[in-house]
Amino acid sequence: MTANDVAIDPGHFRSVLGHYPTGVCIITARSPANELFGLVVGSFTSVSLTPALIGFFPDQRSTSWPKIRACGGFCVNVIGSHQLDLCRQFAKPGDSKFEGISHRASPGGHPILDGCLAWIDCALHDEAAAGDHSLVLGRVNRLEVERGEQPLLFFRGDYGAFQALEAQAIAANG
Ligand SMILES: Cc1cc2nc3c(=O)[nH]c(=O)nc-3n(C[C@H](O)[C@H](O)[C@H](O)COP(=O)(O)O)c2cc1C
Repeated sequence: MTANDVAIDPGHFRSVLGHYPTGVCIITARSPANELFGLVVGSFTSVSLTPALIGFFPDQRSTSWPKIRACGGFCVNVIGSHQLDLCRQFAKPGDSKFEGISHRASPGGHPILDGCLAWIDCALHDEAAAGDHSLVLGRVNRLEVERGEQPLLFFRGDYGAFQALEAQAIAANG
């Protein structure tokens, strides 16, 4: 630790950062041996238009990320508020994430989960250490919108759905 480093309490860090809402995505991958992997992330973000890059931050303790990395590519599934059960199933570590889950192959061969709002098929572009997480960049090969429903949002430890301010005002004022 240098003189300029400040010790931040992890609980306080989580609590303050929890005030920033995120969407929820499931990063999926299929290995050459046909194994399926999936990881729930709230850290997905758009990074660059030219070239088209996206990013997310896997925890170094993630058991799925090393397996996804070894696949050399992945599909980002943007999930909807109707997919909370799916989110919970994929947020548990273990081998049963895909049990009972229907999906089809993306152009890169990775799972597109039925019911997702949008998918982004990527090749692994770069990875850098970022404290106890990694910063992963994906180079986008194909991407499509599947349906125009509400996204699943995560805010202060709870799940929710998006409501446009104008729609709220109309609902409130009649
Ligand atoms: C809403 C939500 C957002 C999450 N965001 C991330 C994330 O950005 N990076 C990460 O590594 N884990 C994230 N997680 C946690 C992982 O999904 C969870 O630890 C999972 O159990 C890891 O499984 P694995 O051991 O199979 O990799 C998130 C979980 C939830 C519910």
